Amino acid sequence: MTTYIKIKKKINPFKKEIYVSGDKSISIRCILLASQAIGKSKIYNLLESEDVTSCLQSVKRLGVSFKKKKNYYEINGLGLGSFECNKKNLTINAGNSGTFARLILGLLVDTKKQIKIIGDKSLSKRDFSRVSNPLSLFGANIITNNKKLPVRINGSTFLRPIKYFEKLGSAQCKSAVMLAALKTPGITRIKAKKSRNHTELLFKNLKIPIKIKNDLNYDYIEIEGRKNFNSFNYNIPGDISSCAFFLVLTILSKKSEIVIKNVNINDSRAGIIKILNKMNSKINFKNKKKYKGELIADVVAKSSDNLIGINCPKKLNSSAIDEFLVIFLVAAKAKGVSYFKDLGELNKKESPRLDIAINFLKMIGIKVTRNKNSIKIYGNPSLNLEGQFAIKNFRKDHRVFMMSTIAALTLGGIWKIHDKDSVKTSLPNFINIIKQLGANLS
Ligand code: S3P
Repeated sequence: MTTYIKIKKKINPFKKEIYVSGDKSISIRCILLASQAIGKSKIYNLLESEDVTSCLQSVKRLGVSFKKKKNYYEINGLGLGSFECNKKNLTINAGNSGTFARLILGLLVDTKKQIKIIGDKSLSKRDFSRVSNPLSLFGANIITNNKKLPVRINGSTFLRPIKYFEKLGSAQCKSAVMLAALKTPGITRIKAKKSRNHTELLFKNLKIPIKIKNDLNYDYIEIEGRKNFNSFNYNIPGDISSCAFFLVLTILSKKSEIVIKNVNINDSRAGIIKILNKMNSKINFKNKKKYKGELIADVVAKSSDNLIGINCPKKLNSSAIDEFLVIFLVAAKAKGVSYFKDLGELNKKESPRLDIAINFLKMIGIKVTRNKNSIKIYGNPSLNLEGQFAIKNFRKDHRVFMMSTIAALTLGGIWKIHDKDSVKTSLPNFINIIKQLGANLS
């Protein structure tokens, strides 16, 4: 079976309206919360990707049944503490999903038997001490394999609420602690560096007792645990992290325009739009509306031939964390130098994305300098590639595959890009969408 694509030609000008699939972060959170609610929840537009399937199959192993209906998933929750954890040697396979693997640990702090979490090669290289440390403070016994997977968790029946300072700006760590707080009597207090706030919005919506205060850099969250909540309906908006690839495809193509319908533009996720517009691109929103606390809109972008470099404010790092690979492509085509600071977290993702991005930019002839985890990209507006390029993508990182495809379709040259199956992690429809926009692949 061919697992690579070949691209020999830039994409022709296009004017199209598209949809991207449901938000991955919200899909995983909806399943996990529906698994703890009382009654049948209906989740519309759930992302059907491998990360989400890992989550669904795992909650099923924990005794939560679900059915796929015509246009929604029905998840049958039995309330807090209803996971069936009585089987010996229960193993949960999180596949490639860091979000699922870290969040489920939060819900397992009260498990009665040991549960083992495993994952694929890429996930097995990632750090789990960032969640095992705070979750242990609740009273759960968590053993990592030298900070990595497999992780074994033995819950406690004597959980105690904690005070936790989340310093990384990691929504996965914050959310794992919030889910553990759900299971714990008393009030858990979290001070968290700003990161995506979908878990908070869902808690509010489900009337889980939560209080939130904010200042410029931190959120202060208080959760009162052990309060059952009812099932819910949720219609998941499009994923801005998927939308990002098509925005950059449009911006870097000639005479093109795209409308991406019904995208979640929550401020804690929309850093890419602020960054690209500071670089002189023309991205607008239409039909803005609020849905259960999330901000949704149609995102409209046009070709931009006047791009300029950016000194990217550090405060935008977290809200664009999954989008930097494609943002760097825009910087490569912009006039002047772009400066991105403190991006060490990028090397903690599905693959070491900061290292990969630097090598990639150098491969396409762009000067990049690095100082620890900050980089300067010397843009070249007349960048036009010739010759052959091969992307091996050793860690099968979905976002490395999609970024490389966007580069191939906008910068020229002949490209062989490996691991097209990696898109199944987050955006199985990726190849169909770029074909729909007119891309020629073989
Ligand atoms: C996610 C949080 C981010 C992001 C990941 C999804 C989430 O990770 O990179 O793709 O759904 O909470 P970190 O929390 O590690 O920053």
